[in-house]
Amino acid sequence: MAFQADKIWFNGELVDWDKAKIHVLSHVVHYGSGVFEGLRLYKVGSRSAVFRLKEHIRRLFMSAKIYRMLPKFSEAEINKATLEILRVNKLPSAYIRPLIFRGFKELGLSPLHCPVDVVIAAWTWGTYRGEAGLKNGISACTSSWFRPAPNTLPNLAKGCGNYLSSQLIKMEALERGFDEGIALDVRGNLAEGSGENLFVVKDGTLYTPEDAGSILPGITRDAILTLAKELGIPVKQATLPREILYLADELFLCGTAAEVTPVSKIDSFTVANGAVGEITRALQSRFFSIVNGESEDTYNWLTYI
Ligand SMILES: Cc1ncc(COP(=O)(O)O)c(C=O)c1O
Repeated sequence: MAFQADKIWFNGELVDWDKAKIHVLSHVVHYGSGVFEGLRLYKVGSRSAVFRLKEHIRRLFMSAKIYRMLPKFSEAEINKATLEILRVNKLPSAYIRPLIFRGFKELGLSPLHCPVDVVIAAWTWGTYRGEAGLKNGISACTSSWFRPAPNTLPNLAKGCGNYLSSQLIKMEALERGFDEGIALDVRGNLAEGSGENLFVVKDGTLYTPEDAGSILPGITRDAILTLAKELGIPVKQATLPREILYLADELFLCGTAAEVTPVSKIDSFTVANGAVGEITRALQSRFFSIVNGESEDTYNWLTYI
């Protein structure tokens, strides 16, 4: 799987992959002043479709608004450009990375005089955890790093700088021999994975940390909440204590990269009997049946290219 494609969309131009460069003194490089999205293009039968394109690009623009980055392009233009870069690169399935960032002009802390640049890249990418992770589950640890407290770094913005927190969580987990880290919020309640939202099943109910918690309210999370409703699974968004992880019947993480990934081991505990639970499996298969085109796209989540 090559981490490369022919072209990158860069401020409205299609630029060769190797020539899509920025200056080392760009504001984003020094101060993390960028916002981004991650989307997936799925192979749906003989065609390809982007999962929840409009919702992702809307969130990109909301993130940009929080940081006062006004791109020269409209949401509709970025939607169109995303489809264009996929067509140009002839990718049947891909990971897609749009980024709005403060470019090169001056290096003062105030970003306001720096240009707002936009790139969209896409490349072939398989499962984040591998087929085994999706099938059998992964291991996770609770991180010693908390997520930023409310009113510090805005959690509703998918800002580049927020991912320093994710990197600390991820590196710590890998160093300790786990696949993933789950962060708590500043009060010690459950937040999310380094790049995924968290779901807990207990006594037949599906729980997830609430929107106002220290989480990015994920678009996959929203899809899971919709599918749970469809399948008649009771759902609660709540403040969840850390120890519910150890009492859970099932645990899973979800996100654009992780899709729906069961967690079978948490810290030194095995989740239930270690096998992937019924509710996780039902939600996972319903999710994949939609994105793979095996069942109807009931919620209009797919945009064909
Ligand atoms: C910190 C964090 N939480 C949650 C998610 C899941 O969000 P989504 O489902 O929109 O990809 C992501 C991935 O983008 C993330 O980086």
